[in-house]
Amino acid sequence: MTAPKLPGHPHIAYRGNELFVEGVRLSDLAREYGTPLFVYSKAAMLAALAAYQRGFAGRQAQICYAMKANSSLGVLQVFTQAGCGFDIVSGGELERVLAAGGDAKKVIFSGVGKTRTEMRRALEAGIGCFNVESEAELEVLNEVALAMKRRAPISIRVNPNVDPKTHPYISTGLKGNKFGIAHERTLATYQRAAALPGLQVVGIDCHIGSQITQEDPYLDAMDRVLDLVEAIEAAGIPLHHIDFGGGLGIDYNGDTPPAADALWAKLLAKLDARGFGSRQLMIEPGRSLVGNAGVCLTEVLYLKPGEQKNFCIVDAAMNDLPRPAMYEAYHQILPLAPRTGEAPMWDVVGPICESGDWLGRERTLAVQPGDLLGVLSAGAYCMSMASNYNTRGRAAEVLVDGARAHLIRQRESVADQIRGEQLVG
Ligand code: LLP
Repeated sequence: MTAPKLPGHPHIAYRGNELFVEGVRLSDLAREYGTPLFVYSKAAMLAALAAYQRGFAGRQAQICYAMKANSSLGVLQVFTQAGCGFDIVSGGELERVLAAGGDAKKVIFSGVGKTRTEMRRALEAGIGCFNVESEAELEVLNEVALAMKRRAPISIRVNPNVDPKTHPYISTGLKGNKFGIAHERTLATYQRAAALPGLQVVGIDCHIGSQITQEDPYLDAMDRVLDLVEAIEAAGIPLHHIDFGGGLGIDYNGDTPPAADALWAKLLAKLDARGFGSRQLMIEPGRSLVGNAGVCLTEVLYLKPGEQKNFCIVDAAMNDLPRPAMYEAYHQILPLAPRTGEAPMWDVVGPICESGDWLGRERTLAVQPGDLLGVLSAGAYCMSMASNYNTRGRAAEVLVDGARAHLIRQRESVADQIRGEQLVG
């Protein structure tokens, strides 16, 4: 078989008959660190970031990496060193930012269920902004801040009610979603916020969904947010920044999302046309910064041809790569060293005791037990959503930088997993 070209993955390529990430042969990493193994390209992350940076050249803009996409410390370190802030959704994520050397002032805290403890810790650390998602949260944050003799900087997350045209589990800006404050309640909520002594209104925020591959939802959401900015400022409440969230999709399987710089050229043109071009901007991209920087390496354990289906059983599973099971998501699966010969159709499945434990369906592959496969687009929402189901330890992770490979997370042992548990008596 001829090795395929990988257009959406400029830092992952076949050299001869072997798959490389930057200058590192993936089969060497599998041998050294075992499988399943996540491998990330630093250059791919920085190239994805550079597209946003180009888009914002000459503007006042802060990119806050939405670290829920991949919160491993070695990944956060790449983004903090590149000048990014972080969008967090829990106290745990804040501690990760601080452990990776991130700057609390560049942290924004999103999420519908912040606890008082998380609010206190975030105020203590001096984060840049809370993105408040309900009127009830506003009141609690005010109380917590007053008790600490602080003023909490806030934005209100607006639900603009636009359809991001993506998977229903990952669309967030529709009326039926739990996120944000309804468009028509926004002004009243800002007036309430401005009257609360423990709060300082600093911005406005929206995020409409994830894996968005069209530009219209963004342009529509922007119009709706700018209408609100005008109304809020006309009511005497100035907004220092406008945060447009994240959500830009990546190419999993021939998807064609706009490039970050092209999308932002259009959005900035709209901002300019409406007189907001010099406003401080914030964005919260996650997937588009890391998704296609990652590959998950896995070994073929058994082949199990059958009457109705052929199963290719590998050592990675839904606990490592939960997206197919959760969203029927597609990830390309490629041999690290393609072999010639017959290539039947396989369902690539993991060892977990669930029929939902599949990584790819109906894939044409020439494989033998012991072969190594790479599951692509595994940089986002894989390791950060990994679990210990079936008492499987989470995989190890390697960050590739040119010709060098750095282990950024050891494979989790059973001892790691049962630490903290105890028998009764
Ligand atoms: N900001 C907020 C408030 C968010 O809720 C999210 C993602 C982001 C930013 C980053 O969105 P991104 O740029 O990564 O699309 N587990 C799902 C994705 C869930 C996304 C949740 N929110 C998946 O694997 O597809």
